[in-house]
This record gives sequence, C-alpha cells and structure tokens, in this order.
Amino acid sequence: MLDNLTSGHRQNLPPGVELVRGDVGDAKTVARVLKRGFDEIYHLAAFFANQNSCDHPVDDFRSNALGTVLMLEGAAKLRGLKTFLFASTSSLTGDLDEGLAEGFSTPYMASKFTGELYARYYRRVGAVPVRTVRYYNCYGPGEWPGRYRNVVVNWIEKVLKGEPLGITGDGRETRDFTYVDDIVSGTIAVARSKKTCGPRVYQLGTGKETTIKRLAELVQEACGRTVGVSLTPRRGWDKTMRRRADLTLARRDAGWKPKVSLEQGLWRTVAWYRAHFPSK
Ligand SMILES: NC(=O)c1ccc[n+]([C@@H]2O[C@H](COP(=O)([O-])OP(=O)(O)OC[C@H]3O[C@@H](n4cnc5c(N)ncnc54)[C@H](O)[C@@H]3O)[C@@H](O)[C@H]2O)c1
Repeated sequence: MLDNLTSGHRQNLPPGVELVRGDVGDAKTVARVLKRGFDEIYHLAAFFANQNSCDHPVDDFRSNALGTVLMLEGAAKLRGLKTFLFASTSSLTGDLDEGLAEGFSTPYMASKFTGELYARYYRRVGAVPVRTVRYYNCYGPGEWPGRYRNVVVNWIEKVLKGEPLGITGDGRETRDFTYVDDIVSGTIAVARSKKTCGPRVYQLGTGKETTIKRLAELVQEACGRTVGVSLTPRRGWDKTMRRRADLTLARRDAGWKPKVSLEQGLWRTVAWYRAHFPSK
C-alpha cells in the first residue's frame, strides 16, 4: 500500500500489509512502487475533500489530478494488470453540468473530474483496464474526526462531548450515507467484474437519501445522548440540495447491492469510536 499518511492512519492497516510511505504526486515514488508488478490496483489516495481543497488548491491538484495521471501512466507500463479502480466522488454528480459550463465550485471537484477524464483516456487507448466508481458519503469505523473529515464522525465526537451539532444550511438537504463495508464490497465487485471496464461510472451508495436533520437525530440516538442542533449558513460551494446514488449500473454490471442500514452503520461506528477514544 502506497500512502503518505496525511489523513490515513497506520493503525487501520491489517497485519501483513506492507506500507510504503510516499506520495502519489511524486513520479519517482510511483514508478518505484509500481515496478514491483501488480495484477490489481485500487487508486484511492486523495487529498480530502471539498473544503480542504478550497483552502489548499495546489496540494489538492498534486494528489488528485497529477497523482492520478502518474498512477495511470505507471499502470500502463505493467504487464498482466487486470484492473485499475479509480475512486471518484458523488460531489460530481449533479454539479457536473454546471462545472463544465461555469467551472466547478471546488478544486476537489475539478481535480477528481480531471482524474476521471484521464482514467477514460488511458482506458480508451487500451493502456489500462480502468473502472471508475463514485462514492456517496462514506462513514464508518477507521475514520478519525478532524476539521476536514466527514460529518458522521465529527458529530459522534460532538455528541459524546455534549456539544450541539452544527448544521450548515437548514437541515433539509439530503445525502446518501453509506457504510464503509458496503463501499468496500462495491469497490471490489466493480473492480473485478468483466462488464465494468468501459466508459460508465458506477455510483456506490445506499440509494436512499437522508436529511441532515434526520442524520443529527440518528447520531444522537446511536450515542444515547441528546445535545440538539445549531444552524449556520450553508457553505458557499455547497449548492446541492438533494443527493442519492443510482444503483442501477452497479447492480446490473457488478451484481452488487448494499447491506447495512444507516441505523446499523451508526451503531457500529459509535461502538468503534468508543473503543478507540475511550476518554471521550
Ligand atoms: N469518504 C467519502 O465519503 C468519500 C466520498 C467520495 C469519494 N471519496 C474518495 O474515496 C477515496 C478514499 O477516501 P477516504 O474517505 O478513505 O479518505 P482518506 O483521507 O481516509 O483516504 C485517503 C488516503 O489517501 C492518503 N493520501 C492523501 N494524499 C496522498 C498522496 N499525495 N499520496 C499518497 N497518499 C495520499 C491519505 O493519507 C489517506 O490514507 C478518496 O479518493 C476520496 O476522494 C471518499
């Protein structure tokens, strides 16, 4: 595994997995790692995510756009590569038309879309057997809270500290919150299916939308504590009111469907959180 550990954690690696600490934006590092030869590549390394990219656009470009091109270029030189899985984002779905016409509302969207375009190019010329997935709001064990991390883990931390949950917007916005085990099984299913290597992009989510207000209730229920919510204005780049995955293609071409309900997933995530951060 190649990771620079900017947002990843060594503790999340299963025993026996070798970690090469290095940067996908560095051509020499990527070439040195890929020289070992692989039959499957899962390219998930990324500068995460929208707000972070607005604050650090150059770092975002280096990891997400340049890093993806370097990985694809290195993969094109491998013999026997069966699959190259590129992890893209649901942020593009819905924002894509406006992004192409007017410019994306964050550098992260632009850099992830750049990755998708290069992935298509390398597949089209027959150099790399690319599959592309877009993840919808992944959450679950293994994610540490932090300024640029996802809402679920940051809200678990807040509830357990007894602080109110800050909602940016009016809480009626919807998202499709997807448990990490489902994202993993969907990723592998798409990567290994013979039908998925083509121009299509596979959406991985639950197919269900949940309002942010409802999420706040469910997180409090899962933590067994009520802290309430406070509303603040929406972030300038966050224009999408509703978002949910369309699972038609993932079902049809990869035979995949998600299994974990939001309630179950939140209980498991809170249990993991309590075990890892017992003092909080
Ligand atoms: N979590 C979500 O809701 C979500 C949604 C859509 C897409 N994605 C995509 O899924 C992938 C995984 O996301 P995640 O939520 O696990 O985030 P994450 O931050 O936990 O994982 C990204 C990993 O990439 C590593 N990394 C960052 N920059 C790197 C670089 N330049 N070189 C090498 N390693 C680098 C980080 O240390 C981290 O381990 C990313 O590509 C992300 O864009 C995630």
